[in-house]
Amino acid sequence: MSSAKRHTITAALPYANGPLHLGHIAGVYVPADIYARYRRLTGGDVAFICGSDEHGAAITLRAKKEGITPQEIVDKYHGINKKAFEDLGISFDMYHRTSDPMHHETAQEYFKVLDEKGVFTKDTSEQYYDEENDQFLADRYITGECPKCHHPSAYGDQCENCGSALSPTELINPKSTLSGKTPVLRETSHWYLPMERHEEWLRDWITNGKLDGKQHHDPKVWRKQVLGQCMSWIDGGLQPRAMTRDLDWGVKVPVDGGEGKVLYVWLDAPIGYISATKEWAKQTGKDWEPYWKDEDTELVHFLAKDNIVFHCIIFPILLKAHGDFILPQNIPANEFLNLEGDKFSTSRNYAVWLHDYLADFPGQEDVLRYVLCSIAPESKDAEFTWKDFQARNNNELVANLGNFVNRTLVLTNKYYDGIVPSANEYHDIDRSITLEMAEIINTMNAYLETFRLRDAQAEMMNLARLGNKYLADTEPWKLVKTDAERVQTIMHIANQIVANLSLAMTPFLPFTAEKLSKLLNLETELKWDELGSLNLLSTGHQINKAELLFTKIEDDIIEAQVAKLKSTDTSKHKPMKDEISFDDFTKLDIRVATILEAQKHENADKLLVLKVDTGLDVRTIVSGIASYYKPEDIVGKKVSVLLNLAPRKIRGVESQGMILMAENTDESELAFVAPEKDIENGGEVR
Ligand code: MF3
Ligand code: ZN
Repeated sequence: MSSAKRHTITAALPYANGPLHLGHIAGVYVPADIYARYRRLTGGDVAFICGSDEHGAAITLRAKKEGITPQEIVDKYHGINKKAFEDLGISFDMYHRTSDPMHHETAQEYFKVLDEKGVFTKDTSEQYYDEENDQFLADRYITGECPKCHHPSAYGDQCENCGSALSPTELINPKSTLSGKTPVLRETSHWYLPMERHEEWLRDWITNGKLDGKQHHDPKVWRKQVLGQCMSWIDGGLQPRAMTRDLDWGVKVPVDGGEGKVLYVWLDAPIGYISATKEWAKQTGKDWEPYWKDEDTELVHFLAKDNIVFHCIIFPILLKAHGDFILPQNIPANEFLNLEGDKFSTSRNYAVWLHDYLADFPGQEDVLRYVLCSIAPESKDAEFTWKDFQARNNNELVANLGNFVNRTLVLTNKYYDGIVPSANEYHDIDRSITLEMAEIINTMNAYLETFRLRDAQAEMMNLARLGNKYLADTEPWKLVKTDAERVQTIMHIANQIVANLSLAMTPFLPFTAEKLSKLLNLETELKWDELGSLNLLSTGHQINKAELLFTKIEDDIIEAQVAKLKSTDTSKHKPMKDEISFDDFTKLDIRVATILEAQKHENADKLLVLKVDTGLDVRTIVSGIASYYKPEDIVGKKVSVLLNLAPRKIRGVESQGMILMAENTDESELAFVAPEKDIENGGEVR
């Protein structure tokens, strides 16, 4: 275990183009937070860094869609996301943003250094151009079929399906995402990073963990899929990659010839880690440089698999080419999380949004942290379901962890008025508790050291299981009548296990840990290297009354969440029509009416000809409902009629208005829209 060591821990900067969902949280932020908290608890000197990624097409496209400026978009979501992270207890030391002027300066300075060192090449080439929007199309401005996996909608920089990095000219059948049109080619010049020049050292660094002839890290600790993706990239042949773009939203290119151009977002965003560290150091009176330049610092990047190539290849090239910077020790990238049998989808609104969870489950932040860590997609894609969420809360947090703590605190209060009793003579079972605890803690620490956070959390839960088993085996509630001395020892030990748990759960369940240390009336913070001790609470220490740490989640809560997910999924419904004004709406004159007569249209199978009493008059309306209703069944029904629709002839019969109908998107059912109470004919619908 490393102590007082410096750790720079980064979590991928989320685009400030929308709110965060559970997929983001499980894949990046909960694991990163657990690791950062663990390092702090073990005495590490930690800079846990994140912030909003506020450039790139993700932002400008969203701004265009919402009809507001890119700055308005990033201001809105930076605030929402920063707050949601805080509320979930994600303990960033700095949550910065890349639209900050200090970041622009830092990124420009970095670019200049690389430019002066000849790290880039400059090249003129033909690139796709959207003539309708007068704009070059790179990255997400262009989509088409992926040349590698043939997914139909890969972006110009990357296929999110297979993770391959792409360039727009590789896309099969490219289309502008702005106009939907096929783009034309036009000449432009850019700064390129000739990545092929770095292939040799990258290969040695990634496969052998060697850098400049020295052992830099242990490649066995890197995740298999991370190594796999890197190698398939390198083996596929690295190519020059443009580091600038013809756009105006972003960090301006700070050298001659850069007018009208900005830095590629994947050049500027990772430098955001550095500028965020600078800002943090400035605010806390520290020096930022050792966190990025001292070889004793452990730099670790947390991210999801679609970010692997940027953090394992491009950013390391930029760091090394600069000369002063260290490279990451590990890049524990996660796979994806799915949701109830489907992919999370922001565009379809198919997601559980973090801010919604926090509003719907106040005080249950740790439940989400627990569940997401339990299913963290560390080595393969994983799935979140509400049923599983409920089961893990009820069967694990409530029935195992909460139950053990509660039994111990209740009995201590009942037998000893909350005063920790003395330990008398130890039996074998007591001695073996010490050994088993030591084993669990060793295993947990080994997992934490190697980024196996899901397994580490499971070991923490094993500690609670051990406590429950101890109580079940020793049955103090039975012995209390016959062997008071023995019960003192048992309850002494049970309290020690609870104290150990309160410490061990801190990285995973920080809110609960705080609550429990209050219940235990702990005045000084326990130290991580005290874990395993049976003397964390001294004899005679007064604890507080028991309170439940977790509560059961009932079926109706879960059913409501599942229903919400289905009802907000927009995939099967037509998208919303363009906005209209209130005046537009009031032009429609809709009235309650009663069907007086109905008969089949002579010239059309699908049509009925109706006579309706509108309160103002009796008129004829032709309606396409013959496949759903028989004429004789609808006479006397109340309906709503659009009265002021210009009359038109339908198959030879003049229709004077329109009957309003509601229908399922798949047309499986059609129904009249009628008032739910008895409203007179001629009554207005508005
Ligand atoms: N915004 C990117 C994404 O959401 C991640 C950027 S990570 C950084 O995929 F390294 F560039 F900062
Ligand atoms: Zn692909």
